[in-house]
Amino acid sequence: MRILLFGGSFDPPHAGHEALLRAALKAVRPDRTLLMPTWRSPLKAGHSAAASDRLAMTRLLASACGGASRGVRADAFELERGKTTYTYQAPRRLRRLHTGAEIWLLTGSDAAASIGRWKRHAEVRASCRWIVGRRPGGSIPGSLKAQVLPGVFPDVSSTILRARLVAGMDASGSIPKPILGCISRRGLYAADIHADLRRALAPGRFAHTLAVARLAVSLAERHGLDAERAALAGLLHDAGRRFDPAGVARYAANRRLRIPAKSEILSRNPMLAHAFVSEDLARRRYGVRDRDVLQAIRLHTFGARRMSPLARLLYVADSASEDRGFREAARIRRTAEKDLDAAFLEAVRLKLRCVVEGGQWLHPDASALWNSAVESA
Ligand SMILES: [Fe+2]
Ligand SMILES: [Fe+2]
Repeated sequence: MRILLFGGSFDPPHAGHEALLRAALKAVRPDRTLLMPTWRSPLKAGHSAAASDRLAMTRLLASACGGASRGVRADAFELERGKTTYTYQAPRRLRRLHTGAEIWLLTGSDAAASIGRWKRHAEVRASCRWIVGRRPGGSIPGSLKAQVLPGVFPDVSSTILRARLVAGMDASGSIPKPILGCISRRGLYAADIHADLRRALAPGRFAHTLAVARLAVSLAERHGLDAERAALAGLLHDAGRRFDPAGVARYAANRRLRIPAKSEILSRNPMLAHAFVSEDLARRRYGVRDRDVLQAIRLHTFGARRMSPLARLLYVADSASEDRGFREAARIRRTAEKDLDAAFLEAVRLKLRCVVEGGQWLHPDASALWNSAVESA
């Protein structure tokens, strides 16, 4: 019996997994193929999918690659153990279940390159046959006796895909269709939040929300920040605008939200408090626990003297998203591609200028915000 083993977080399974698996099935011709989602701490940051959802998506990947009729199925071994499982443990178990089986391990060159750090790597090396797909720029350690699949496999990253899904960007080229359907049905990667906001926000506001999330993702990728967090902050930053001004004021009062200069804001223009309502909704209605994401949402209107890089990024993305009609938006976007701090200064300058030139009330913390933007630019 020849068994092919393919492990991964499958969060979500994507076109890179599918291509690698199809090629390995052709090369190895296994009797059985087991796709094994790895267990992972449920406390991991980000809006990642739960174990049961990853298993459901992995089953769809198995079906897309032949399914039961070709002996391809998802295996919940690691998920059911519910604790860290090392690569050597799966082949050990298979050998107990199927004496004499020939076990093939499928990986990408990126995972194969780190084998020296795996627990009991000598055992894994000796007990399995290896089939490896090359990723762009990846090299396969010379000491590893592996069969290398022909060609180079697409370098799709689940992390980037998650961020794009959260931001509502098209992922149809990178995720097999049945898996996209499952993501939407189960409300994964913020699909549930999208459905809720689409109902609650005015169409233009919802479009703005997605435009901010998209810009936040692209800036995060460019500047090495966490794109999934940026997407989530962008998606939820205006959630409080589901209410009218009276509704914002009521919500802020009922929930006793802590808002600097609260009484002035609520008496002059309660809508200015929407960011604080958005933060509260993010926490209570959408279950966001990430403090950096929550802070970014809270500070996107007034800013503050101390703002994390993510909070600054969201402030910039909100001022300069594609849907903004004013001409400065495009300039801020261009600056932001090169230098986020310089773009932040431009965005703060623009907002303060509009307030002053429009003869509007200025938040008392505005000078601290301005000074901190100048100091860091
Ligand atoms: Fe806003
Ligand atoms: Fe906004």
